[in-house]
Amino acid sequence: MIVLVGFMGAGKSTVGRLLARKLDLRFADSDTEIEQRAGRRVREIFAADGEAAFRAQEQAVIADLIGGPDLVLALGGGAVQSEQTRRLLRPASVVYLQISYAEMLRRVGGDPRRPMLRRPDVEDIYRRRLAGYESVATLTIATDGRRPGAVCLDVMNGLAGLRRVDRAGYSH
Ligand code: S3P
Repeated sequence: MIVLVGFMGAGKSTVGRLLARKLDLRFADSDTEIEQRAGRRVREIFAADGEAAFRAQEQAVIADLIGGPDLVLALGGGAVQSEQTRRLLRPASVVYLQISYAEMLRRVGGDPRRPMLRRPDVEDIYRRRLAGYESVATLTIATDGRRPGAVCLDVMNGLAGLRRVDRAGYSH
């Protein structure tokens, strides 16, 4: 199981799709899965039911996906706020795609489909989440100014390096 985490706009879904193709694994995205189950868009769930209801659905969907067959899974940017989700991630290879706040604004700042971006405290939310991403990551890749293909290559090399280390009997 390879799981991609990081703030909005880091490229979790784009890089995840590329990675799944290269590794011949299925790709899933927690937001798309939630939308399919709910029959509504993420922004509609936020608007009608609020963030807490969205988080409950997100946690349930991620638990199901992680319990299922091997895949590359991109998580929504707020998913690792859940302690249950952080616990479920422990046995997975977790790739943290890092993005600076300024680059995030350039990439997705005006996206109306991302309700969290309209919060007045979005910069605080960004800063508060960084430690959470770091705490679950087995591999961290910087993405600022880089194309998805280059990031994907770094992820593959990084994961291969971790596996070599595992085989040599070191811990990381
Ligand atoms: C969210 C990020 C979104 C989506 C929802 C909430 C967040 O996913 O789950 O809008 O709290 O950061 P992306 O990170 O894929 O944009």
